[in-house]
Amino acid sequence: MLSQEPEEHLLSLLKLQKGYISGKNLAKETGISTSGISKRIKILRKYGYNIESKHRMGYRLVGGTDLPLPWELAKVLQTLFVGKDKIIYRLTTHSTQNLAILLAEKYPSLDGIVIIAEQQKSGRGRENRRWLSPKGGIWLSVVLRPRISASKITLFPFAAALAVCDAIKKTTLLDAKLRWPNDVTINGKKVAGILIETSMERERINYAIIGIGINANVDSSSISLGIEKGIKVTSLSDELGHKTSILGLTKAILERLEYYYMELKHCVPHKIMDEWKKNSDILHQKVSVIQNNRTIQGIAADVKDDGSLLVTTDDCDNIDVVAGDIYVRY
Ligand code: BTN
Repeated sequence: MLSQEPEEHLLSLLKLQKGYISGKNLAKETGISTSGISKRIKILRKYGYNIESKHRMGYRLVGGTDLPLPWELAKVLQTLFVGKDKIIYRLTTHSTQNLAILLAEKYPSLDGIVIIAEQQKSGRGRENRRWLSPKGGIWLSVVLRPRISASKITLFPFAAALAVCDAIKKTTLLDAKLRWPNDVTINGKKVAGILIETSMERERINYAIIGIGINANVDSSSISLGIEKGIKVTSLSDELGHKTSILGLTKAILERLEYYYMELKHCVPHKIMDEWKKNSDILHQKVSVIQNNRTIQGIAADVKDDGSLLVTTDDCDNIDVVAGDIYVRY
């Protein structure tokens, strides 16, 4: 069960009241001081709630928020364990991944903790790149404790990317695709990325942190500088021509993530990979794969069940690529 935050209690009182409610009454009902009430009203406004205040009358709630705050998400989320025990929301944090690692260590018995930030100051991408994370995006990390064989861990990024791809398609109707290893693209431009970090003890996975970054309602020209060289980026709002619901999309991502996580636990690996391939637009394309300092050019022939990419090079060699950045050559 999620515990109630003071802001949530205050909000429920504002929601119950048709008209204005005084700061004094709010203080009495919540046990918070009147100065504490005005401080918390300010926080609720930062969270996007429209709260009017009138001299001698108090406060009145006139509009809700679209931010995936723990109590808003809890109302709509249909999962078994992802986001059920703990959802942490921050207006600003360094990186939700870092916070997730701390929480994974602090709560060893909790599976499915979700950490969401409105913006990150030091967002991290794959290959130690920085990940620009301004307001308007979806920046979240999920702590999972998979009781699966360590060999299946390579499929985690594919399952997470599939979840994001499904969620984007479902909530925006945009034609999202998957690009190896774990990017989500629209019209060939990157719209979301996945970063997985794991803690292992011998052959056992202690926990895995699934980091998901989606350029939702952001201006893509403001983030293109932070991304891998040569990769084109976009955002959902740029593709749609209007904003999308952050709350609705976050809900869909967490639900699909739980779904694919269960699939991964109980099914044979090729089920995830078959689904991934169906949604990918790189197979049978001419590609360049940049791996450390070497570039492999050829046709993306297949993605194997362990997640590695099989490239048939221009001089007809078959190379198994386990990591790298892929570019489609037109
Ligand atoms: C990539 O390089 O494509 C992966 C980007 C992953 C970014 C997400 S945003 C939420 C989480 N917190 C981070 O610092 N990184 C991940």
